[in-house]
Amino acid sequence: MTTPGGGRVAIVTGAAGGIGSAIVARLIGEGYRVAAVDIDAAGLAALVERIASTALSTFVFDTAGDATRGVEDIVAELGSVHALVNNAGVLRAGDALATSDSDWAYVMHGSLTGTFQMSRAVLPCLLAQGAGAIVNIGSVAAVVGLKNRVAYCAAKAGVLGLTRAMAADHAAAGVRINAVNPGTTETAMVAAVIAGSADPEATRAIWSTRQPVGRMGRPAEIAAAVSFLVSDEASYMSGSVITVDGGLSAV
Ligand SMILES: NC(=O)c1ccc[n+]([C@@H]2O[C@H](COP(=O)([O-])OP(=O)(O)OC[C@H]3O[C@@H](n4cnc5c(N)ncnc54)[C@H](O)[C@@H]3O)[C@@H](O)[C@H]2O)c1
Repeated sequence: MTTPGGGRVAIVTGAAGGIGSAIVARLIGEGYRVAAVDIDAAGLAALVERIASTALSTFVFDTAGDATRGVEDIVAELGSVHALVNNAGVLRAGDALATSDSDWAYVMHGSLTGTFQMSRAVLPCLLAQGAGAIVNIGSVAAVVGLKNRVAYCAAKAGVLGLTRAMAADHAAAGVRINAVNPGTTETAMVAAVIAGSADPEATRAIWSTRQPVGRMGRPAEIAAAVSFLVSDEASYMSGSVITVDGGLSAV
């Protein structure tokens, strides 16, 4: 039986996290061989325990700084790359006055520079094949101004700009570059923000009910959109954004 993945290689960054591990599980289920990348070695080891598949390989490196070497290691081990999912991202709260230079640099490094450097590192491989897909995980924060999220909103808006610019450059060569904008999704990133709030129980209730669907998203619901965009079903999509936010940005 043919599968959407068909043995193709997909790289997923931030693979130890909530959304990343759901993307890894989804793509393996569809027949991809997955290179799971994260800076969190223990998190990747736990992922291997949970998923227990010969289609999963793990690579520990920083997507911003070590992308060239990291992608070389992946290609040396797995032979090729067909898809890259730039999911790694980091968050620091703060309005402009409360955002230090190091907060700004941290968020840009983890949420934007890594996405750029991984894309640049993978591109020669995709162009040589004349085929491939990159999916960048943005956020609703890329298109609306969330309070107290100056660096994060700026970095995620940058991710969408990068997506469109690269799509314009490389679509004619068979490389499609798209983005998924998740809304509030139940992961460790969100749990940490809720736990650090003044009233975690009230924050959880607000964050659940502010979406028209009345709850937070599940990582698997983000993975479903990624799966579509990397597949040949999305062959006429490039430079596009799929929003998966329970209706949050519609109201
Ligand atoms: N959870 C949400 O509500 C939500 C909403 C919108 C967008 N997003 C985006 O979805 C993506 C995944 O978020 P999540 O909630 O699963 O977060 P998470 O914190 O659970 O996972 C993020 C993972 O990225 C890894 N990572 C961070 N910087 C890295 C780097 N430089 N190199 C390699 N790995 C790195 C972390 O170690 C972590 O395992 C992020 O880009 C985030 O901004 C999340």
